[in-house]
Formats: sequence, C-alpha cells, structure tokens
Amino acid sequence: MRHFLTLKDFTKEEILEIIDIGLEIKKDLKAGVYKEELKKQTLAMIFEKSSTRTRVSFETGMFQLGGHALFLSNRDIHLGRGEPIKDTSRVISSMCDMVMIRTFEHSMIEEFAEYSKVPVINGLTDSYHPVQLLADYMTMVEYGVNENAVVAYIGDGNNMTHSWMMLAAKLGFELRIATPKGYEVDSVVLENSMKIARESGAVITVMNDPKEAIHGATIVTTDTWASMGQEDEKEQRIKDFKGFMVDDLMMCLAKKDAKFLHCLPAYREQEVSESVLEGHAKIVFDEAENRLHAQKGLMVWLDRQRG
Ligand code: CP
Ligand code: NVA
Repeated sequence: MRHFLTLKDFTKEEILEIIDIGLEIKKDLKAGVYKEELKKQTLAMIFEKSSTRTRVSFETGMFQLGGHALFLSNRDIHLGRGEPIKDTSRVISSMCDMVMIRTFEHSMIEEFAEYSKVPVINGLTDSYHPVQLLADYMTMVEYGVNENAVVAYIGDGNNMTHSWMMLAAKLGFELRIATPKGYEVDSVVLENSMKIARESGAVITVMNDPKEAIHGATIVTTDTWASMGQEDEKEQRIKDFKGFMVDDLMMCLAKKDAKFLHCLPAYREQEVSESVLEGHAKIVFDEAENRLHAQKGLMVWLDRQRG
C-alpha cells in the first residue's frame, strides 16, 4: 500500500504512469464511458482549510469512479476538538478505503499516514501541494510543452514552489525560481530536490530577480503571495512583492508563445495581471479541470497498489 504525501516518494515512471491513467480516464469520460474501478469505495476528505477545486474534483472524481466521498471539515469532526490524529486515523481508516487531507503542518499528514490502514493523499499542506502538480504536468503534456520545458516560477517560496521543485527534480526539467528576499524556498526542500536533480539531470536555480528567471522560459507560473494561514501578512507581503507581478511586460521576456500556469485561486493585479490571466485563460482553466482527471488517475493507481 502506498500513500501520496509528496512527489519525493515517487519515481519518474510512477508519476508518468499516474498521469497516463488519468489521461485514459479523461478520454473515457469525454466519450461518456464510466469505468467504475472504485465501485463501493469511500474516500474520506478532511479539510482544515478552504477549497474549491480540491473538494469538487475529489468528490466528483470518486463518484464518477463508482465510489462515494465524505466531506469532513475540522469544525464537524472531533479532530478539531482535540481528538488525537492517531485515533482519528485508526477510526477513519477502519471504515473508509482512502483518505484525502488538507491541513497546515505537513507532519500532521505524516502522522495520520503512519496510523492509517488505507492510502492517504495530501490535498495540500503548508509544505507541499503534490496533487496540483499532477494536474499541471498533465496540462503540459496535453499542450505538448513538457519536453525541454524551462519553467519560471515567480513569487512566494511556498507549498506550490516546493512541489514544482520535486516535480522538476524527478522528471528532469529546468526550473528557475525567483522570490523576493526573505521569501525564499525552504532550505531542506532545496537541498533534497538538488540531490534528486543531480541524478535526473534537472537544473533547479533560485534567485531574487524575476526578470532573470523568466528570460527565455517556455512556461511561466506563480501563486498567491499570501497562502492560507498567512492572511495577517497580506498587506506587508503586497509591499514586499513589488516587482514580482507576472504582467505583459514580464511575459515579453519569456519565450515567444510561452505558456502561463496558475493553480488558482488567482489574485489579479497582485501575483498576476488581469490581462495575463485572461490572455491565458484557456490553459489555466484546462489546468483546473485536469485536477479531476489527474486525481482520478491517482486514486485508481493507489487502489491498484494494494494488491
Ligand atoms: N488549486 C487548489 O488547490 O485550489 P483549491 O484551494 O480551490 O482547492
Ligand atoms: N499556496 C496556496 C495554494 C492554494 C491552492 C495556499 O497554500 O493557500
């Protein structure tokens, strides 16, 4: 049995296999074919933070695969009132077939997984957002921009950045990260991804100049400057991130026809201008839709690993 907590625990072949299953399921869905591979299975979804895409995609995906999803907000279950993680994990995993968790500290899902009898999926922690990267890479494949990709990530060194680093390190593409001073990526994640990158041939560079990072990039991406849990820092961050908005002038420095990706929700005129977001709306909303297909691929893959 496998959990899906970070991309670090997966080989390149496994990541590509999950994407392939997702693409196959997507093709079936578009043709009106539903293969109920997870019939009668239940996915427990624990949310300690808000969500639009993650909730809708997992719940819809599980239903389309013949199963059922339970939405458990921490306001409704005893976890939010202090029932230990290890007890919650043993109870839920004795009744459900898979668990998806969105929470703050990454150690919470690690502890949950340690006590779980069923696969645990990371639906975002403060440190990583790996399911988003499955959808992002699926989108890159569909648009034919996955080979020889040069990805520029402009913005906060956060859970999305860390997951981009793991994806680049595993798959072997170039990733340039530009953050303002003081908002750099986690040094341990950087060290780990550099180690993996040395084996795969990936090139990961970190800098504080967004123009240098974006120069000649084939894919440009960003994320909110204030993640969930950092709402109090928002005003300060808007000042500190001056010069980091991905706007038309910035996009001009990227390769001609460079693609723009955003995990959403997007904050217009902060990390991205209205015109860049709307100018790339087709790919950005395909990327959002791919959350559904990629995660169906993931759930089917995890189920097959049980043996
Ligand atoms: N991108 C993403 O995870 O969106 P939600 O926060 O809406 O789930
Ligand atoms: N970095 C963002 C991603 C939202 C999908 C956050 O954690 O809020």
